Amino acid sequence: MLVVIDLVLMLIDLTISLFNALVRTVVRPRLKPIDGELCLITGAGGGLGRLFALEFAKEGAEVVLWDCNAEENEKTAKLVRELGIKAHTYTVDVSKRETIYQTAERVRLEVGNVTMLVNNAGVVAGQRFLDCPDALLERTLLVNCHALFWMTKAFLPHMKATNHGHIVTVASTLGLFTTACVEDYCASKFGAVGFHESLTHTLLADGVNGVKTTLVCPYIVNTGMFAGCQIREELRGLIPPLDPLVCVQRSMQAILGDETMVCIPSIMNIAFLSRALLPWEANVATYRFMGGDKCMYAFIKAKQQQQQSVVANGHANGYVKKTG
Ligand SMILES: NC(=O)c1ccc[n+]([C@@H]2O[C@H](COP(=O)([O-])OP(=O)(O)OC[C@H]3O[C@@H](n4cnc5c(N)ncnc54)[C@H](O)[C@@H]3O)[C@@H](O)[C@H]2O)c1
Ligand SMILES: *[C@@H]1O[C@H](CO)[C@@H](O)[C@H](O)[C@H]1NC(C)=O
Repeated sequence: MLVVIDLVLMLIDLTISLFNALVRTVVRPRLKPIDGELCLITGAGGGLGRLFALEFAKEGAEVVLWDCNAEENEKTAKLVRELGIKAHTYTVDVSKRETIYQTAERVRLEVGNVTMLVNNAGVVAGQRFLDCPDALLERTLLVNCHALFWMTKAFLPHMKATNHGHIVTVASTLGLFTTACVEDYCASKFGAVGFHESLTHTLLADGVNGVKTTLVCPYIVNTGMFAGCQIREELRGLIPPLDPLVCVQRSMQAILGDETMVCIPSIMNIAFLSRALLPWEANVATYRFMGGDKCMYAFIKAKQQQQQSVVANGHANGYVKKTG
């Protein structure tokens, strides 16, 4: 008998959630205020990270900025302070677990308890898998995936204890479907998506309703990270690379609206669905038609040339300055 009642209740919940999702496509959800929150952003010295810092600051949140590039991170802090908001910078390599734990402890002592965490730092090897040095492949997993473990272990306990907080995972559409020549990146982003989903289930199952999570899956963004990547010429205008600000503003809407997941642009949901629904060969056919099968070729080539010029210029320190 109980199971029948539960079944009916489940069907009601299911209907409500479908209805809510439908309403959300028309009516903008209410956005939560975040002034007074302490927001930590990793990769804050780069394209999306810097814009995230500025958007959180505009909403009145104090920000803690982590990046391995001290100089670019300071630039972000300066821009935030110009808005009259406090910014605290930390030079951290998030591929190192102990460094994450140590710096997290410093943040707790020097700034306070982080209530919003934006795991944004990300890298891609950008080389053919078989030609790529092992360490570079490994780094992609450490930064894009393992760092999520250590960051969450460091900052979730306080959020859980107060039943208040938010963990944002910046993954990618390449965490939902894949293409050629980005094996390391796809492995790491699929990992990030799985981590986010399981963590979200855990929080709900444990009844920690006050700690929210948001998964952000953007298509190619014009930050330089995937410079060169392109699909078939005739279709480029149809699905152009995202403007970084547009991407971050849509992400902010999702975060402040407590949405669990956002695909940017939303048309990318179709690629996600077709990966799951259509036979493998059907997806290959559409990839071929759209030029999605070899879209990374020009990116790999551009990255190669960039690497060579870095070596030629004599600063082969592994960090390649990006444009845009
Ligand atoms: N650019 C795109 O096309 C695109 C598309 C989908 C998802 N994403 C994701 O968005 C996020 C931000 O990407 P972006 O385009 O702004 O890249 P970006 O390269 O412009 O910025 C990344 C920032 O992370 C920092 N960083 C890299 N490794 C680090 C480490 N080990 N420790 C600390 N900081 C580190 C870099 O110094 C840089 O400031 C990444 O997770 C990326 O995978 C990007
Ligand atoms: C941070 O949270 C802990 C409990 O999780 C609390 O003991 C401590 O006082 C808080 N620190 C600040 C600065 O609020």
